[in-house]
Amino acid sequence: MVSKAKSIVVGVTGGIACYKAADLVSSLTKAGMDVHVIMTEAATKFIKPLTFQTLSNNRVIVDMFAEPDYWDVKHISLATKADLFLIAPATANFLGKAANGIADDMLTTTILATKAPIVAVPAMNNNMYLNKMVQDNIQKLKAYGFQFVEPGEGRLACGTVGKGRYPDNEVIINKVEELLNGKPQDMQGKRVLVTAGGTREPIDAVRYITNKSSGKMGYKVAAAAKARGADVTLISAPTSLEPLPGIYTIKVETAAKMHQKCLELFPQSDVIIKAAAVSDFKPNKAAENKIKKEQGLTINLEKNPDILAEMGKMKKNQILVGFAAETEELHKNALKKIHNKNLDLIVANDVSHPQAGFDVDTNIATLFFRDGKKVDLPLLTKAELGERIIEEVSKLLYDGVKGRTN
Ligand code: PMT
Repeated sequence: MVSKAKSIVVGVTGGIACYKAADLVSSLTKAGMDVHVIMTEAATKFIKPLTFQTLSNNRVIVDMFAEPDYWDVKHISLATKADLFLIAPATANFLGKAANGIADDMLTTTILATKAPIVAVPAMNNNMYLNKMVQDNIQKLKAYGFQFVEPGEGRLACGTVGKGRYPDNEVIINKVEELLNGKPQDMQGKRVLVTAGGTREPIDAVRYITNKSSGKMGYKVAAAAKARGADVTLISAPTSLEPLPGIYTIKVETAAKMHQKCLELFPQSDVIIKAAAVSDFKPNKAAENKIKKEQGLTINLEKNPDILAEMGKMKKNQILVGFAAETEELHKNALKKIHNKNLDLIVANDVSHPQAGFDVDTNIATLFFRDGKKVDLPLLTKAELGERIIEEVSKLLYDGVKGRTN
């Protein structure tokens, strides 16, 4: 999902696919965008402006001469206000006019006045689409900077079969989000589970064992996955970080609770990234009340479950990513963890370095893959490292994991 502030102008031109643009406008509005619709006269023969007005919560513009003292300001203001123009469906007539700089209606006029990116979604009869004149216009528009969402192939409204079908709105929305937030939407439809922060293991009612994890690394990984379109769930141990918009966050305190939630969500996840610093040990008994000084305090520890190793055993098609917080023999220990925990990727950070690891905004990491590939990364902000990790995860999802036996 993109930020609420984004304004998008949807140009609807007169083709039978107009009715699909209604669903498109509805989805863009629901995604938090400020959607303005400009229709051509021909489009109004297929669908009423009122439909788009209701779905966008904004006035629909058709006739640029209808309100003489209003239109001029409006078309210029929409042209400057828009973060993106989307023409869906785009007819051959519209493409021809736009390719030749013709501005004889509100849509073509506003388009000439805008500096925002323009995406066209051609939809028409396949012979029309493949006609050299239309193809030349498309090439011309590409040269002018227009972007296109290719029409699909299949049975067309006119009864013929071929290329020219209005594509799925989901494909169009992916393109819009990619252009608006500058990130490819290749994680769309993927469910990503991220853990963050340091668990707290209670000693008594007021004391606990924890570690120095601030949660920053895990939160940045979660945000990076979200920015590429993933459906992200974050299991967060206590942190002082602000909740991330659009990310379902489950707050936990102890390793036991994190363990329970991770195992619950594991089967329905495509990717699991464990950036949390899970306490390896916990007091074997937590006192219900505060232990008085006079009583003295001896803490007997017992082992917490190794959540990542358990998920490694359960793994089917999931991509499993761990972190390795090391202070010595970084590479040797990281490699051991990748094999012992059956991981696809491990992010090894040398937490003894002052600009890496716990509670700082930067990190220095080496990525180790199952097939022995290793990528040494320079000093990066945690946001940059989060993005880099998601980029690698995306490659693993789409190119497959090399060296994986299950
Ligand atoms: O939160 P920040 O302040 O931003 O700091 C980031 C970080 C240093 C916490 C992070 O970059 C990091 O290294 N996280 C992993 C810390 C850790 O527990 O490392 P480990 O080497 O002990 O564990 C290896 C992996 O097993 C980790 O993915 C960990 O989540 C997982 N694990 C560990 C123990 C356990 N009982 N269960 C687990 O799942």
